[in-house]
Amino acid sequence: MGVASLFGVAETAYATQVVKIGVSGPLTGANAANGKDIENGVRLAIDEVNGQHPTIGNEPVQFVMDSVDDQGDPRVGVQVAQKLVDDGVQVVIGHFNSGVCLPASQVFAKAGIPLIDPAATNPAITQQGLKTVFRVIPTDAQNSGIAGKYAVTVMKAKRIAVMDDRTAFGQGEAEEFKKAVKAAGGSVVISEFTNDKAVDFSAQLTNIKAANADLLFFGGLDDQAGLIARRMKQLGMHTVFLGGGAVADTIFTKIAGSSADGAMAWEYGRPLSTLPRGNEYAEKYRKKFGIDNLTYSPFAYDATMLAIDAMKSANSTKPEVFIPALQNSQFTGITGEVAFDARGDLKSPASTLYKLTNGKWSPVTTTIAN
Ligand code: ALA
Repeated sequence: MGVASLFGVAETAYATQVVKIGVSGPLTGANAANGKDIENGVRLAIDEVNGQHPTIGNEPVQFVMDSVDDQGDPRVGVQVAQKLVDDGVQVVIGHFNSGVCLPASQVFAKAGIPLIDPAATNPAITQQGLKTVFRVIPTDAQNSGIAGKYAVTVMKAKRIAVMDDRTAFGQGEAEEFKKAVKAAGGSVVISEFTNDKAVDFSAQLTNIKAANADLLFFGGLDDQAGLIARRMKQLGMHTVFLGGGAVADTIFTKIAGSSADGAMAWEYGRPLSTLPRGNEYAEKYRKKFGIDNLTYSPFAYDATMLAIDAMKSANSTKPEVFIPALQNSQFTGITGEVAFDARGDLKSPASTLYKLTNGKWSPVTTTIAN
């Protein structure tokens, strides 16, 4: 812990405690924009709090961000997690990719450092029994589960196709979706796979077209989802494209534009514009960074504010002291209410269905789990 004394006055009265907040996400590679978005959310929160001259345990506190690039790679993620531990961070906001979060969360748990997950959504992350992991975003059991039920009961899809990118995230989404389709009495007529580096999906889409599928659920990220939805139209397919999380954003629309009109996707949480401080957040973000926020920065902002809130209510920046306060959080963030179940997942997660019309995503309906 760094301590700076002002003007040589007794440290007990005026010392400023420096508290490091770690951030880990992909700052390079295909998902760099999402990683940067998460970092920006943390930056916004830290700057806002520091501007209010916070004190914890009667000491002035300054929060600093320690951001690392996990490259969306599980092995790199574990290495940079260890670097954050060695740097002496008190809490970590991360990660973007579930495949990175799963192994890296164990590094932080071993060091007793809390991890607040704003984006990695595979249900297994909070099923490892780690008491140091909290997630402020719905899981894919919720999000893709709702997608599966809705596809059968409301969209009335009869011949469902599923494709995933074989990552912990995409495969996890596909599994949850299929489970829910089955539970709702629907049937999956074809399952196809790709990998998270692929840019050509013609072979899989040709098979799906031949299977006469009326709906294709894709488990994977926005960049590939955009390419797939665009290709489906090029192939003259009448199959409805349905995405799970991390699809209904501007990364998708920049790739697919209105050529993918009719595409649908379930996203985590409520639409930002319908939340009390959502528009204000979007405006602040735009002003500070000169771009629009993506899906995850509001969750990263909330995760940071939540960590600071827990430190304040525990009157301590020591992880072992404020972790119980995190577990008992009753916090209202930009994205809504944050309260955790025994695993560290949201008690009342929400998911919203979006539809693409004229190259623009618009919300259709929101479902809240009970
Ligand atoms: N929600 C995505 C994942 O879990 C980004 O990997």
